[in-house]
Amino acid sequence: MENSKYSKIYRIIHFAMASLFMLLILTIFLKFTWLNKSNVAAIIQNYLGDYHLTLSQEQLYVLAKQIRQPMWNWHIYIGYVLVGLFAIRFSLPLFGKMKFQNPFDKSLTKKLRFQKLLYIVFYICIIISLITGVLMELGPIEYNELVKGIHALSIYYLIPFVVIHIAGVIMGEFTDQKGIISRIVNGTEEKK
Ligand code: HEM
Repeated sequence: MENSKYSKIYRIIHFAMASLFMLLILTIFLKFTWLNKSNVAAIIQNYLGDYHLTLSQEQLYVLAKQIRQPMWNWHIYIGYVLVGLFAIRFSLPLFGKMKFQNPFDKSLTKKLRFQKLLYIVFYICIIISLITGVLMELGPIEYNELVKGIHALSIYYLIPFVVIHIAGVIMGEFTDQKGIISRIVNGTEEKK
């Protein structure tokens, strides 16, 4: 199988996106675990209980969300940076760089075609996440619940993609794509 070479711009964009996705996953992980609003509300209520004070569940949730907000702002900042990176990524082919690969190219093997199709599905999902994310921040309030519902589904493709992607690269490294890890890191094949 032909071993692809990865240009500098390809590698920079790839690792910038990969790091940002990891950070994005971290913010979601924190929102679901340590900074989950029920957990934080329970901590506040416990503390207040020692002083015989109480707050309604709704007030507790408002406080819990306010405590979580500085962390969650990072989700939004990272989201905006990803919007910028994807805009660069999609405009590069116009300048003859980082061309889009065609999964319908007749010369492709079944495996490569499947791999390229998977990337297209992933890109479509990301575009939906980015658009709904920005709409939640800047769009009209009327559709906020619907947009939020669609956006929250992002987790169902994000984690499986990361797992499949890493597993695919490791499998490739040990089968017909030897040196792929070295090429995406250094741009060249490792010297033996
Ligand atoms: C590929 C990019 C993105 C992915 C995979 C992603 C993923 C997610 C997920 C899984 C949630 C749901 C967390 C939960 O269920 O509580 C979420 C919530 C949220 N995201 Fe994103 N996100 C992305 C981009 C963005 C962008 C670009 C923005 C805004 C600029 C954004 C703003 C938000 C906000 C405000 C929420 C909270 C919604 C709520 O109030 O529950 N996201 N995101």
